[in-house]
Amino acid sequence: MTAFPHGTPVPEPRGQDGHQYALWDAAYVLGSLSDADRREFEAHLGECPSCRDAVTKLSGMPAVLSLLDRGEVVAIDEDDPVAIRPPFPEPVLLAGRRLRGVAGRREPQRYLDPPAALVQAPETVFPIFRRGNYAPVPDELTAFDLPVEGAIPAELNGWYLRNGPNPREASGHWCTGDGMIHGVRLENGRAAWYRNRWVRTESFEHPFPIYNADGSRNLHSSIANTHVIRHAGKTLALMEFSLPYEITDDLKTLGAYDFGGKLMDSMTAHPKICPTTGELHFFGCGNIFEPHVTYHRANADGELIVNRPLDVPGLTLMHDFALTADHVVFMDLPLVFNLRLALSQQDERDLPYRWDDYYGARLGVLRRDDPYGSLRWFDIDPCYVFHIANAYDSGNSIVLEVVRYPEMWRNSGEFEVDAALWRWTIDLDAGDVEENQLDDRGVEFPRVDDRRVGAAARYSVAVGSDSLVRYDLDRGIASEHRFGTAGLSGAPGEAVFAPSPGQSDESSGWYLTYVYDPVRDGSDLVIIDASDFDGQPVARVRLPRRVPHGFHGNWISE
Ligand SMILES: [Fe+2]
Repeated sequence: MTAFPHGTPVPEPRGQDGHQYALWDAAYVLGSLSDADRREFEAHLGECPSCRDAVTKLSGMPAVLSLLDRGEVVAIDEDDPVAIRPPFPEPVLLAGRRLRGVAGRREPQRYLDPPAALVQAPETVFPIFRRGNYAPVPDELTAFDLPVEGAIPAELNGWYLRNGPNPREASGHWCTGDGMIHGVRLENGRAAWYRNRWVRTESFEHPFPIYNADGSRNLHSSIANTHVIRHAGKTLALMEFSLPYEITDDLKTLGAYDFGGKLMDSMTAHPKICPTTGELHFFGCGNIFEPHVTYHRANADGELIVNRPLDVPGLTLMHDFALTADHVVFMDLPLVFNLRLALSQQDERDLPYRWDDYYGARLGVLRRDDPYGSLRWFDIDPCYVFHIANAYDSGNSIVLEVVRYPEMWRNSGEFEVDAALWRWTIDLDAGDVEENQLDDRGVEFPRVDDRRVGAAARYSVAVGSDSLVRYDLDRGIASEHRFGTAGLSGAPGEAVFAPSPGQSDESSGWYLTYVYDPVRDGSDLVIIDASDFDGQPVARVRLPRRVPHGFHGNWISE
């Protein structure tokens, strides 16, 4: 069989009787068993519950398995099992139907769907889903004419939608729960309705793996739990390893959306809509075969017009990217998939991504007017960034404002350190990057007025500790809107900016966010006047039930 180097070439006895098939489960799911071994193992599966369980768990991790770390999984020559250790002298990725740069290595064989009977929802147990407001809600509600404290601005007509994980089994890592969208319809000063709906993707209804028999991905397999956007008349629920799923204004799922059959890639959960051109810029990643990352662009009408493969050295967790008036910027950072952890299954609370001291960190810059031109890489200090607040061009430099972690998941999949706001300035002439920390508060989920995406925004609002933090980037100061009273907490989520119709400045509008009140175990939609950020909210819409902590959303105006 194909062996797995780096500490896992010698199978440990596993199985109900300590038999020889340990590690064959991963090789089977990854399709790297020979045909003879595959037949033998499939016969064994019929009589071994523990191996069936292992295959089931591994098959339930398609997004994870799509991020294979170079060197961790290579199909090595059986006669020359060279252990390749970092720093990797040359690329040894599983790349297309071949392995690059390693003579004599055996071509990876077919990726296989496990038998349908073995495909079940992952059953890992991660306690976060049993804690407080991380716990999922059990069902879907609809409520009309919600009670309001204060006054909803009459100018706000539209929908506030926010996506997040709500696993049906209350298990798994926070990132892996079934997507649920919580929406409030605002209309002429009233909160017309609240709905929460699971995104009923094809794999939600009937679970199936992301991999096809030939190793390509079935991009219809999705948990659709990360973001929700609107572009070219379509509202899309997003998760970065699959196709978008289109939903209606009242949160019914219509189906996977592939740009009229043109998108044959996943779509990041953080696409960028250019406020000047109306274009939708995004990338796809997680493809085991080359290209591992591809930059895409749709025009304002939603027609896919650019598909540009990017050459990156490894499969990392690339969550966000940046758009400016003239450039797109990609982050290739040292958080990489670790198959050894996936195989060991030592801690079911864990995710098998790990910090890699050998990978390095770099930013890739592409000109928007030359999307098939050269991609320039700029080294930066190793770090991890889930979210870019904003980016813009400044002379012959590019400025990125990011929420930066000094490192991520070195020893576990827990979030152990806070992130803070940093500024990276890429000097295109000098070829280097200046890195400056702007604040020392722990924050996440930064947003700017979406009309400022790609241009210098004055304000960036992020989630702090029981607060929203608004950075005034022109003046270099920050203010906080704190939640809770008399020492009691109140936990906001990401805040989005809803501009006042007809007004262009960043102070004319409102911030919208769901806020959890642990005292009454309930949630409100809170509306804050941007011109009075420190003041009391102008309205609190009392929701019929708490909204679990989630990820990202948008205000969708009529
Ligand atoms: Fe995100």
